[in-house]
Amino acid sequence: MSIFDSIVITGGYGMLANALLRKLAQRRLSVHAVDRDVCDITRESDVDSLFQSARPTLLINCAAHTKVDQCEDQVDAANAINGTGVGLLAAACKKSGAMLVHFSTDFVFDGQGKRPYRSDDPVGPVSAYGRSKLLGEQKLQENAPDKWLILRTAWLYGRNGPNFPRTIVERGKAGQPLKVVDDQVGSPTYTEDLAAATLELVELQKSGIWHLSNSGQTSWFEFARAALEEFGVKAEVAPTTTAQWLAIRPKQARRPAYSVLNVSPFEKATGHPMRPWREALRDYARAVKQDGF
Ligand SMILES: NC(=O)c1ccc[n+]([C@@H]2O[C@H](COP(=O)([O-])OP(=O)(O)OC[C@H]3O[C@@H](n4cnc5c(N)ncnc54)[C@H](OP(=O)(O)O)[C@@H]3O)[C@@H](O)[C@H]2O)c1
Repeated sequence: MSIFDSIVITGGYGMLANALLRKLAQRRLSVHAVDRDVCDITRESDVDSLFQSARPTLLINCAAHTKVDQCEDQVDAANAINGTGVGLLAAACKKSGAMLVHFSTDFVFDGQGKRPYRSDDPVGPVSAYGRSKLLGEQKLQENAPDKWLILRTAWLYGRNGPNFPRTIVERGKAGQPLKVVDDQVGSPTYTEDLAAATLELVELQKSGIWHLSNSGQTSWFEFARAALEEFGVKAEVAPTTTAQWLAIRPKQARRPAYSVLNVSPFEKATGHPMRPWREALRDYARAVKQDGF
């Protein structure tokens, strides 16, 4: 029996799920991908039905409330989806013996760090989204199945979904003014690379909390400029600061100033480096030019 015998993805219509589906198809593995119309992960009865019908050996949870600013006003929904829902999935995996792979975020950190965050560094989220994602990590560990992975990632973008480089490129093409913060630093991560890395850790039968992002670091401003360059869009982008941005949009969620993740445990485990973020962005631009956003 293989862990890949019955793969189920919850939140299966989202951006990362789409990349996982492509990677699994390349390996000729079949997958049952469901979203909230079939399995709302906050409903125990939906989770029970899914486990009864699909009998997963591997459950990959991509379901999440990912709209960071909205989470500030929708704390209960954020905690239900990103927190207690994850606990329900974990309990179901524990009961059935399935492995659970779950994604978390750099936003569990407060952003005051000065070197890449290790997975055992103290957490301290500064937004409702970050707190809800941390709750999910805790609920998973309280109900931990025999085999589980929490994969914290950052600044995610990819095909089939709204994301930062896409927004910048579309606004740039439309001639809209672009102003982007230059004082938040992190590591952009391409969903294709995260999906591949995820499957590698599953295959290696790893467990626990891991950090996965493309390598290197940049600011949102530099990321915006790089996206325009890779997509060949001629548009001006002006730098701004978080303080100036918050003065215009006071209801916006706070974000960590520094959230680079230390991916060296993954690199040691697999014997290869994560791809530099700029190379991955170039690949994304190539894929979009070929097949569209
Ligand atoms: N995007 C980033 O920059 C980023 C950064 C770090 C970590 N992450 C984490 O990476 C993972 C994947 O992110 P993503 O960007 O691929 O997310 P996404 O595109 O927003 O996909 C999430 C999916 O989950 C669905 N969903 C929402 N509530 C649900 C519920 N109650 N039950 C079942 N499905 C539900 C969403 O449906 P609706 O569209 O209908 O809501 C959507 O299809 C998430 O865990 C996220 O927190 C993302």
